[in-house]
Amino acid sequence: MKKRIMSGMRPTGKLHLGHYLGVIDNWVKLQNEYECYYQVADWHALTTKYDNTEDLKQNVIDIVSDWLACGIDPGKSTVYLQSLVPETSELHIYLSMITPQNWVERDPTLKDMAKILKSKEGFASQINYGLMGYPVLMTADILLFNADYVPVGIDQVAHVELTRDIARRFNNVYKTDFFKEPQPLLNNCSLICGLDGNKMGKSFNNDIKISDSSEITAKKVMSAITDRSRMRKDDLGHPDECEVAFKYWKIFGTENEINTVRCECENGQRGCADCKRQLGAKINERMAEIREKRSYYEQHPEVVEEIIREGSKKAQIEAQKILKEVRHLVKMF
Ligand code: TRP
Ligand code: SF4
Repeated sequence: MKKRIMSGMRPTGKLHLGHYLGVIDNWVKLQNEYECYYQVADWHALTTKYDNTEDLKQNVIDIVSDWLACGIDPGKSTVYLQSLVPETSELHIYLSMITPQNWVERDPTLKDMAKILKSKEGFASQINYGLMGYPVLMTADILLFNADYVPVGIDQVAHVELTRDIARRFNNVYKTDFFKEPQPLLNNCSLICGLDGNKMGKSFNNDIKISDSSEITAKKVMSAITDRSRMRKDDLGHPDECEVAFKYWKIFGTENEINTVRCECENGQRGCADCKRQLGAKINERMAEIREKRSYYEQHPEVVEEIIREGSKKAQIEAQKILKEVRHLVKMF
């Protein structure tokens, strides 16, 4: 019996290289060894964007297109949409009954969100009931498949801890050992920084999207920060102070290439513009196959939709087994 993995992402727009290198590539590797459930968390997106759903459908298609292009294989993993597995919401209800209010109130991510919301006006500044339930809903996602491991970024680890607490409490309350206490597997979301040296993020305008063309990628790479003390090509460079470009080389270059870049830079034999032109080509080489797949899905959204519907049906079958047992344990009618 393979162990189970469950993870998800909110559909908030097209993914970037930080997602690919730090998260999805890891998901891709996991799918050979584990039974994987990968979910698009559209209800979680609603917790803050309930009044801005114009792009929701497209965002779901986009994120799944990105996953598929990067190598998530619906033949190996179950790729599904949260709201197409409504069993999630029934489990959420049972779990919400046994979750003390102060457990969700002390959730650090929620506290951060509350701070952001406070700066808004009127209704928008409120923490809604649904948002309070964010970590309980996430717990339902995970326990609905009785997952062993949950690959997440550091910002989500507290949620997985809460999931463990809720699983334990359920087992205590209903005198069972039915739910496993799932363990977080840490993703490295900060593997690659943004073009300006800060954390890569779509709202910072410093990212390279998985779906960007090679022209756009090359152009973006030219804007990457280098060694700021360097004015001319024959100035001696300091690769370790080259804030972005050399870091990218270390991710995308071979050992030989990295050594050559270092050596030529230090000896003033390499201009930054040339260096970044080569780097852009290097990144494009690595992304070529992914881009080709990405553009296929872009042109065939109906294929993506079908994969989502099929995956959700498959997920539902598993979910119903778990939920049947939960209803039995809670002694529902
Ligand atoms: N909360 C996660 C995030 O914002 C997304 C998510 C929803 C998730 N359900 C999940 C992650 C279940 C792991 C497991 O990134
Ligand atoms: Fe960075 Fe390359 Fe310029 Fe050196 S030559 S500072 S490694 S961009």
